[in-house]
Amino acid sequence: MYLSGTSQVNEKNHLEIGGVDAIELAERFGTPLYVLDEEAVRRNMQEFVQSFSKQNITYQVAYASKALCTMSVCKIAEEEGLSLDVVSGGELYTALKTGFPKERIHFHGNNKSFAEIEMAILEEIGAIIIDNLHDIQLIEAIAEKHRVVTKALIRVTPGIEAHTHEYIQTGQEDSKFGFNLTDPALAAAKMAEQSPWIDFRGFHFHIGSQIFEMTGFVKAVERIAEFYSIVQYELGRDLPVLNTGGGFGIRYESTDRPLQIKEYVSALVEALNYYFAERSLKLPEIWIEPGRSIVGEAGTTLYTVGAIKEIPELRKYIAVDGGMMDNPRPALYQAKYSAAIANRMFSDYQEKVTVAGKACESGDMLIRDIELNNPQSGDILAVFSTGAYNYSMASNYNRIPRPAMVLVNRGQADLIVKRETYEDLLQFDLVPERLRSKVSTK
Ligand code: LLP
Repeated sequence: MYLSGTSQVNEKNHLEIGGVDAIELAERFGTPLYVLDEEAVRRNMQEFVQSFSKQNITYQVAYASKALCTMSVCKIAEEEGLSLDVVSGGELYTALKTGFPKERIHFHGNNKSFAEIEMAILEEIGAIIIDNLHDIQLIEAIAEKHRVVTKALIRVTPGIEAHTHEYIQTGQEDSKFGFNLTDPALAAAKMAEQSPWIDFRGFHFHIGSQIFEMTGFVKAVERIAEFYSIVQYELGRDLPVLNTGGGFGIRYESTDRPLQIKEYVSALVEALNYYFAERSLKLPEIWIEPGRSIVGEAGTTLYTVGAIKEIPELRKYIAVDGGMMDNPRPALYQAKYSAAIANRMFSDYQEKVTVAGKACESGDMLIRDIELNNPQSGDILAVFSTGAYNYSMASNYNRIPRPAMVLVNRGQADLIVKRETYEDLLQFDLVPERLRSKVSTK
């Protein structure tokens, strides 16, 4: 077990997050419950900003909202002076409704629709990141229609295999994202440069997610510096921006040893300075897009333990009231998590168990073979590091309503996402007239 952010054990031997007793949270808001530690989120954001501001470069830290996109989280990112990376009309809409400064919004996606691009162009956001030729055609047509010049970067695939799960690698050549180096990306740059409707500002790459070593980033920076020298020569001008994506790893298990945010940033900037200077190139404004490293460890999910099944000499399952619906990562990526009994943080008796979810699916296991403190039905189980890609990837599988989310800080707890109700689950269902007579009206 490990505790992140402001989490600690209080005098009742309970887990406390943001100065609030987790058991009180479970009683007040119900379980499963996503708990977000505001101070931890802010500290991570500030560590990125401060690490960059110590370097002698211009930069933007764009929070990758796909990790966790709610209006309150967008608001916190805005207050901390961050920019925002969005990847869909829905994320863009959330940011706009929050009042996020438009010029600090960057819009990604490998298959943006006409409507999504039109929204981005009409709102005159900070940049659209062009992923393919289809994007260029759509942007040109829509920008011309509305007579708005659109700022854009072009996403490239630097041909780097990041050391992470295959499903979250994105920098390798065989990827659905971006233009491969060098010729396809160069051709795209020339097209963007020639377009009167595109203000082409530079390139973007993102090599993957949950990365612990800097080797992949450093190699990608070397390739991109070489590519900038080619493109800038061909275009006859310096490009003002380079976006190096996100991907910094976090701790899920106590044995994980991620770098600190400031170490990621300084190693990245060192590589950028080195490889650009080596080619006598001016370093562009650097944008980065951390998602997981900002919200991941700041999130904890609280569950109630229900059924316990023991198969003698084989395994003991303890089932919780959530599962792959609120956290699909173990099922999707064999992701590992650590957890504790929040109402009995320290105990003399430990037992190896497997934490099962409640979905009607054998693969719905949240944690296999974990030592927990004498788990009993009715206990509150806290699963750590669930802030990133849990709520944002949650589903209603088995028609299970999605949990609520509370923001805790200095003893205060505020609901930032309401718990879904059964009524909510039915809100989009329609029954055609010809079936109606058979529907119960009770
Ligand atoms: N920028 C781009 C272009 C990205 O595609 C991503 C993540 C990020 C930034 C943020 O990466 P981060 O700092 O969060 O690692 N659902 C998967 C992760 C998918 C990441 C997709 N792109 C998971 O749960 O592990």
